[in-house]
Amino acid sequence: MASLKISILLTIFVLAVESRELLDQMQPLPVRHEQWMAQYGRVYKDATEKQHRFEVFKANVKLIEAFNAAGDHKYKLGTNKFADLTNDEFKAIYNGYKGKTTSRASVFMYENFTAAPLSIDWRVKGAVTPVKDQGQCGCCWAFSAVAATEGIHQISTGKLISLAEQELVDCDVKGEDEGCNGGLMDDAFTYLVKNHGLTTEANYPYTGTDGTCNTKKAAITAASITGFQDVPANSEAALLKAVANQPISVAIDAGDYSFQLYSSGVFTGECGTDLDHGVTAVGYGTDTDGTKYWLVKNSWGSSWGENGYIRMERDIDAQEGLCGIAMMASYPTA
Ligand SMILES: *[C@@H]1O[C@H](CO)[C@@H](O)[C@H](O)[C@H]1NC(C)=O
Repeated sequence: MASLKISILLTIFVLAVESRELLDQMQPLPVRHEQWMAQYGRVYKDATEKQHRFEVFKANVKLIEAFNAAGDHKYKLGTNKFADLTNDEFKAIYNGYKGKTTSRASVFMYENFTAAPLSIDWRVKGAVTPVKDQGQCGCCWAFSAVAATEGIHQISTGKLISLAEQELVDCDVKGEDEGCNGGLMDDAFTYLVKNHGLTTEANYPYTGTDGTCNTKKAAITAASITGFQDVPANSEAALLKAVANQPISVAIDAGDYSFQLYSSGVFTGECGTDLDHGVTAVGYGTDTDGTKYWLVKNSWGSSWGENGYIRMERDIDAQEGLCGIAMMASYPTA
């Protein structure tokens, strides 16, 4: 009886949610824009700016509704937090991976690993901290390197500790990495090796701006790594061996509007291979319709995508992987 009640309640809830979405879509666009502004706490400096943003929002809504109505996609777009940005604005602000191809380290410790399970989700194994938000700072590279480091630290010590991206933004500035102007995960790992680790998020909180290195805070390390290795390029099979063992830093091409406005489902593109964003592969699996995917942790807050995550199609025909996910993968070693 109780379970029947629950299932009725659930049905009512689902219907309510669905009809709310439908109702939302029937609202005039200016009202939807106002509601969206309230939902995401967006404030514009004057009426001109608001009008301009409304036009962008309107264009994005048209695009989203046309895309979703087409019906033959494995994923949906939505009016997420980036719905009032043009694709060019979005790319300028959020993509901070310095896409140059660096030399790749040759040792791959998982080369002979053959016991990869059919699916894995490092969140369930307690190796993934809650989704973070880089804000308007192009330091995705720091978030990607930190998530991979949090992962291997939990796997090797049993302790999940949220680590400080801001330390990398402020202190890892002697090489290629340039804080909010972009960087590379491998250079972040190099800093971690040299600095004997990273301090905690709590000790060195994220500000989302370039700051001066607080060497006292940076000296209090909470997790360290012994080195890092690169996954052999252009092999999703190699990437699978790696992700089966720990969360892996990956670079992707996240520049397309479909990535910007991704809402749910298994993302199948559009995207190219101009690597411009650093994220973390924290698992893989197969959707109910048989589509294989990588489970990817992003750093755009938990309102983007599937609670801050995106599932990206896995084992595609191109050796680079979808959006180049298999091109520049790497990981820290414990
Ligand atoms: C994998 O196995 C081959 C053949 O036994 C060996 O030469 C190689 O060193 C192994 N690779 C690693 C990373 O252990």
